[in-house]
Amino acid sequence: MNFTFNTPPDIVFRSGSTRELGELVKSRFQKPILITDKGLIAAGLVDPAIKSIEAAGLNVLLFDDVAADPPAAKVKQAVNFAREHGADGVIGLGGGSSMDTAKVVAVLMNANQSLEDIYGTNTVKGKRAPLVLSPTTAGTGSEVTSISVITTEEDTKVAVVDNALYPDLAVLDPELTMGLPRHVTAATGIDAMVHAIEAYTNIHRKNPLSDALAREALKLLSSNIVVACEKPGQKDAREAMLLGAMLAGQAFANSPVGAVHGMAYPLGGIFHIPHGLSNSLMLEPVLRFNAPNADHQYAELADVVAPGAAGTNAQKCDAFISRIIEIIEATGVERRLSQLGISHNDLPRMAEDAMKGQRVLQNNPRTVTYEDALAMYTEVL
Ligand SMILES: NC(=O)c1ccc[n+]([C@@H]2O[C@H](COP(=O)([O-])OP(=O)(O)OC[C@H]3O[C@@H](n4cnc5c(N)ncnc54)[C@H](O)[C@@H]3O)[C@@H](O)[C@H]2O)c1
Ligand SMILES: [Fe+2]
Repeated sequence: MNFTFNTPPDIVFRSGSTRELGELVKSRFQKPILITDKGLIAAGLVDPAIKSIEAAGLNVLLFDDVAADPPAAKVKQAVNFAREHGADGVIGLGGGSSMDTAKVVAVLMNANQSLEDIYGTNTVKGKRAPLVLSPTTAGTGSEVTSISVITTEEDTKVAVVDNALYPDLAVLDPELTMGLPRHVTAATGIDAMVHAIEAYTNIHRKNPLSDALAREALKLLSSNIVVACEKPGQKDAREAMLLGAMLAGQAFANSPVGAVHGMAYPLGGIFHIPHGLSNSLMLEPVLRFNAPNADHQYAELADVVAPGAAGTNAQKCDAFISRIIEIIEATGVERRLSQLGISHNDLPRMAEDAMKGQRVLQNNPRTVTYEDALAMYTEVL
């Protein structure tokens, strides 16, 4: 046995904790920049956080111009804003896009490195500013990962992966997710399920802690996602989803994702299809493609999502895939690329771009070639 495992040192999971945010963070900085997007301002989620921070005696700066699948130019704007206004810490409040932007701002605002300098793995030099993250989607798990995903000027999604990106504190308040619209609940919840599944089948860094977290995450997510979609005000389901997404984040931060994400990135990078929906679209073809090499692991996961499943590994693997697809269909998300405006002519460029994602493809239980990628895109067109 040989593994390393990292996670943030401080995690607060409590309903209503946004109203205590100021007390939770006040020892860490005096003039934090709060990084979020306009959708969250409109949803009324940012105001209580700001009030709480101010009530604790801090001076808070607001950057609310985060864009989905954060484009490099926007991230640089946020870094400049933090520098110009003399921020001494960062709070990321929002979905993966806001938290990923916040992570990079915390790293770059006091550094001599440029954004391009830190693309890749273990590239961060120097000390980042204090960093607190609070998720509003039950999805990415970014609040507990060492990853930030940025979209380059060439529409390619690249990652910064460095232990410096783990926050000092993650604050999880399930109340923030109560108003998530159905399609966001579905897509981000499926993203979290994919994190758990792909962490479980990583061929390089699979480890017992990630396995245990992934199984628990998948149990919570698979049994609550449809309820959260159909009864959005159901507090227990929202809580289970947020917890499941966090556990899946801890799992894949230490046993990174594979070809579902690799195949999904071009959908986000080129067509701006939301990250969770991109993953959801590619999940079935990749699971079927991987099955010859990963059927024993998928069979183990059948015990989690389809407890009655019995028989050989191949039969249980089938039961696992069928159950996952049944859940996805029940959430009502789109199932075809053509429903999102993608045509046959786009597929070669997508397959070419997918091949650039070796950072994640190398973790996959089966090697994906350009022809394989093209075949899988064609399958879900
Ligand atoms: N860092 C990581 O470990 C990691 C992991 C997976 C994905 N990602 C990245 O995260 C990004 C996707 O993040 P996401 O799926 O959380 O979506 P997002 O942050 O892009 O947000 C999607 C939309 O949902 C809205 N929204 C968010 N929370 C809401 C709420 N509670 N109520 C109402 N509206 C709300 C936002 O305003 C936004 O319009 C992608 O760039 C993806 O690549 C990062
Ligand atoms: Fe993801």
